[in-house]
Amino acid sequence: MAITIDLSGQVAIVTGAAGGLGQASAVRLAEAGAALLLVDRDLSGLTKTAALINANGTPVRMLAGDVTDSAFPEAIVQSALVLGGQIDMLVNAAGILRTSKVIELSDEDWQQVMDVNATAVMRVSRAVSRAMVDVKRGGRIVNFASLSAHQAHENSAAYCASKAAVLLLTKTMATELGPSGIRVNAVSPGWVDTPMTKPWQEENRRVVELVAQQIPAGRLGTPWDIAEVVVFLCSPLAGYVNGTTILIDGGFTAHYSLSLPD
Ligand SMILES: NC(=O)c1ccc[n+]([C@@H]2O[C@H](COP(=O)([O-])OP(=O)(O)OC[C@H]3O[C@@H](n4cnc5c(N)ncnc54)[C@H](O)[C@@H]3O)[C@@H](O)[C@H]2O)c1
Repeated sequence: MAITIDLSGQVAIVTGAAGGLGQASAVRLAEAGAALLLVDRDLSGLTKTAALINANGTPVRMLAGDVTDSAFPEAIVQSALVLGGQIDMLVNAAGILRTSKVIELSDEDWQQVMDVNATAVMRVSRAVSRAMVDVKRGGRIVNFASLSAHQAHENSAAYCASKAAVLLLTKTMATELGPSGIRVNAVSPGWVDTPMTKPWQEENRRVVELVAQQIPAGRLGTPWDIAEVVVFLCSPLAGYVNGTTILIDGGFTAHYSLSLPD
């Protein structure tokens, strides 16, 4: 029996839709038939994602803005409702990375990372879940956490802490919203080739090779590796999956990190 995912007639919002993982998630959701509201502060990037989706023929709208703006979540809801009168899915992919050692970490960098990666995820999810509860059709929310929510990464204290916050926000929202038919899950990508990691990859080519060698899959992830899990979580195939996080790292964290000789 062939398993197909049909999200036609449904409306999905993707934040960070101009970026690597948000774009791939939006494209795959559109391929499954969903109408898309693409949200990002990067309008030209949104236009590129919309062009990829337009090739599919599903309805698409773009909304440029900053997810940390306190009025923006309501604008997102209103814009999505224009697409179909209800909101079925939200994918929170907008995120930023700032690197420095804790002893050099500025208050500004800490706050900015927490604002985008944690507080805005709560605010957008809060506004969207209110709209979902109002129309009583249930819904699905997928939050982007990270491998860095599960393990410490040097020079990334703010990023790690913000992504760890996403894990428990996800569980708490799942608990509170489950009775309304709203499932809330997270994905934790490992090392993925996107604009976020590009500068690091270019500066550390040898390290990238070493990392790839330590991933049982033998390579870094692609945005499609992650987007397909996002679509699964949004689909009826994941109807009994709620309040969990799927680690998508090619097996990187499955093994003990010290390689010993045989
Ligand atoms: N690439 C990886 O290896 C990796 C690994 C684990 C987790 N993640 C997470 O996945 C998500 C997507 O990452 P990506 O690799 O696609 O990064 P990316 O930089 O390619 O995309 C992130 C997008 O978020 C947007 N954005 C950032 N701040 C915003 C704001 N204040 N308002 C509106 N839009 C904003 C950016 O414009 C960008 O288009 C992020 O939450 C990231 O932390 C990425």
